[in-house]
Amino acid sequence: MLNNTDEKSRLNAYNLFDSGYIDRIEAGTVEGLLEIHRFLFDGLYKFAGKIRDKNISKGSFRFASALYLKESLTIIEKMPETSFEKIIEKYVEMNIAHPFMEGNGRSCRIWLDLILKKNMRQCVDWSKVDKYAYLSAMERSPVNDLEIRTLLKPALTDKIDSREIFIKGIEQSYYYETH
Ligand SMILES: Nc1ncnc2c1ncn2[C@@H]1O[C@H](COP(=O)(O)OP(=O)(O)OP(=O)(O)O)[C@@H](O)[C@H]1O
Ligand SMILES: [Mg+2]
Repeated sequence: MLNNTDEKSRLNAYNLFDSGYIDRIEAGTVEGLLEIHRFLFDGLYKFAGKIRDKNISKGSFRFASALYLKESLTIIEKMPETSFEKIIEKYVEMNIAHPFMEGNGRSCRIWLDLILKKNMRQCVDWSKVDKYAYLSAMERSPVNDLEIRTLLKPALTDKIDSREIFIKGIEQSYYYETH
């Protein structure tokens, strides 16, 4: 079950599309990711749209040190977006950075789709991506991104302007977050 914060945030995510705000976000940039995070979590987390200043980890994986996070983000932003493989590399690096205290997965998946839309005229149909396969591929991704690439490639769709694909994607993305 989603808690109240997640429930409100999910409605914000729908509104990101319905308000047309999503089309004004610059793809592939740090500022773009901060804007997505702010939009999803404004009024819900005091750190909405703000880069963390504490170190965090998940399982046994320690995300980028808060001390060097801003510099890391500047480097990641410059990574190329010239192919599906390169875009996934960039997404994996952004996940390793994990710039926020919470809500990284949900905001980064929207950020990834914006990059794919801009450069490939495609996006991920997340409803085709199994939760446990996804989480296990992301866990593996700092060492090897083959699994996440293999998982996301067949889920690509060219229905980039479809509200249904977007909304189903948000539902799936928020479902990944429930334990
Ligand atoms: N062990 C791990 N190592 C690296 N990355 C991981 C690991 N486990 C999960 N991830 C990635 O981190 C994301 C979760 O980060 P975080 O909890 O900040 O985001 P969220 O939006 O709250 O959660 P979720 O992504 O589950 O919706 C996952 O979606 C996945 O992409
Ligand atoms: Mg979480």
